[in-house]
Parts: sequence; C-alpha cells; structure tokens
Amino acid sequence: MATKITKAVIPAAGLGTRFLPATKAMPKEMLPVVDKPAIQYVVEEAVAAGLTDVLMITGRNKNALENHFDRMTELESTLQRKGDTDRLHKVEFSNDLADMHYVRQGDPRGLGHAILRAKMHVGREPFAVLLGDDLIDERDVLLSRMLEEQSGRNATVIALMEVDPALSHMYGIATVEPTDDDDVVRITGLVEKPAQGTALSNLAIIGRYVLRPEIFDILERTDPGKGGEIQLTDALQEMAENDIAGGVYGVVFRGRRYDTGDRLDYIKAIVQLAVEREDLGPDLRPWLKQFSAQLD
Ligand code: G1P
Repeated sequence: MATKITKAVIPAAGLGTRFLPATKAMPKEMLPVVDKPAIQYVVEEAVAAGLTDVLMITGRNKNALENHFDRMTELESTLQRKGDTDRLHKVEFSNDLADMHYVRQGDPRGLGHAILRAKMHVGREPFAVLLGDDLIDERDVLLSRMLEEQSGRNATVIALMEVDPALSHMYGIATVEPTDDDDVVRITGLVEKPAQGTALSNLAIIGRYVLRPEIFDILERTDPGKGGEIQLTDALQEMAENDIAGGVYGVVFRGRRYDTGDRLDYIKAIVQLAVEREDLGPDLRPWLKQFSAQLD
C-alpha cells in the first residue's frame, strides 16, 4: 500500500539578488504578494493538499520566516485590546497553519543540494517539494492531483506546463510520451535550462514535485551541472532515463500560475491577483483601464 504523504519541503535559501535592495536584510520569500508574503501562499497550498508537516530549507536571514509562522504575542494582544478581530485573525492564521520545521542549507550549492538537506527529516517516504517562486492559483488543482498520481503509480511525479518556446531556456524542459490519462505524461528526458533554441519541447517544469526517497541516493552522487550547481533536474533525469523507482511522470497543469521570480513577473502577479480580489478588484479594475489608456 502506498504511504500517505504528509511532508512538504520548501526551499527558501535563495539570495534573492534580483530584488536587491529589498532583500538585503529580508528573505525574498517574505516579499508581499498583495498583502501576504509569497511563502504563506505556498504553505497554504501544501496544507490545502493535506501536507501538514512543512520543512523549510533556509539560508541567511531566516528569522523573518520563522517569526511569520509563530505567535506575535505583543501584536496579538494589542489587536485583541482594540477589538480588531479581523486583523487579529489575519495575524493568527499563519501561527498554526502547519507543523513547521527548519534546516539551514549552509553553502547555497543549488536546488538539488537544498533538497538533500531534507534527507534526515523526510526519511524513507515520498514527499512533496514546492518552490516559492511559482504560485498556483488556489482555485486550480495541481498538488492534490500530483499526490493522487504518485500514490496510484508509486512513482515520481513532477508538474509541467506549456511555456512560450522563447522562454524555455529559463526552465527544466521535459521530453515526454503520452499515457492513458489526458493530463499525465511519462517523462523520457529532462534538461535543465537548455541553451536558447535547443529545447526539445515546450513542456517546462514548474515548481511542484512529488518525489520518492530514492532521489536522495541519486542526489548524493549527482555532480554539479548548470551554473556549477547540483541540479534536481539532473537527478530526475537519471531517474527517468534508467526507470529508477518506477520512473518519472508529469502532470500537465493548465491552470493559473503566477511567477514571482523576477521583478517584472512579480509586479504582474500582484496586479493579476489584486484585480480578482473582492476587496481590491472593484476599485483597481476601472483604475487600471484608465491608467492603461493613458499609456497608448
Ligand atoms: C528551478 C528548476 C527548474 C524549474 C524552475 C521552475 O529553477 O531548477 O528546472 O523549471 O525552478 O520555476 P529556478 O527558477 O529556481 O532557477
């Protein structure tokens, strides 16, 4: 019988250099997307899919991350005294969202290296990995579909999305063959960030993975790849190519994904999400129309 997956690993040790100076003293995962730090969307997504044990792989400046998922006694009692229950609820919401754990990455030697830091905590069970730069709209299903496929096939499952071929050099790119399921493919090959014009498909890895523990054994012997870093994609490629531990499958996501990885995409994500919010959308939408008309 397949083990029920309860653990999520969230790498949050990046230096966030694209957002300097905002990220000088604060991790990029704490940047607000509308009024919530990016990392909270990701933890909420994991919890919504039933993953209540969250391990964050942190780096420098981890205090803000730990504090965000802990009590803020002074602030809470001030809001309580004022009778501001709305805001109190917002503050308290992230306190008990999940069972939070933290481990430091030490040297930032790549995503594969970060995942390897989860080995002790995860043990020999399958687990999910969620990357903070990719936000998946809560109205669209992805992670629970991947968990379902993982348990059905007892294999490794990664999330894929069709991207503009001009952007394929920014992603891990998969070559695939169909399965009987419309939204599931079998991965035959993976290349981390292929040079422009060399990608063999437009199916890109987006930051959600459901991994089997054998990934740790492979990562331990994976040499540095693209950018001199230990790449998760390279370990997955070895798994797919040699059909290790059931091989690798992809769930093709066709829903709404927001990229917060660089400044332009981050601004777009905020606008997209704010436009759809009940409290902000009705005022923002007409303003945006007027504003964009001025740009013509
Ligand atoms: C990472 C992965 C890449 C994947 C991407 C998705 O790259 O290495 O394979 O396509 O996340 O966001 P990063 O964007 O962290 O450089």
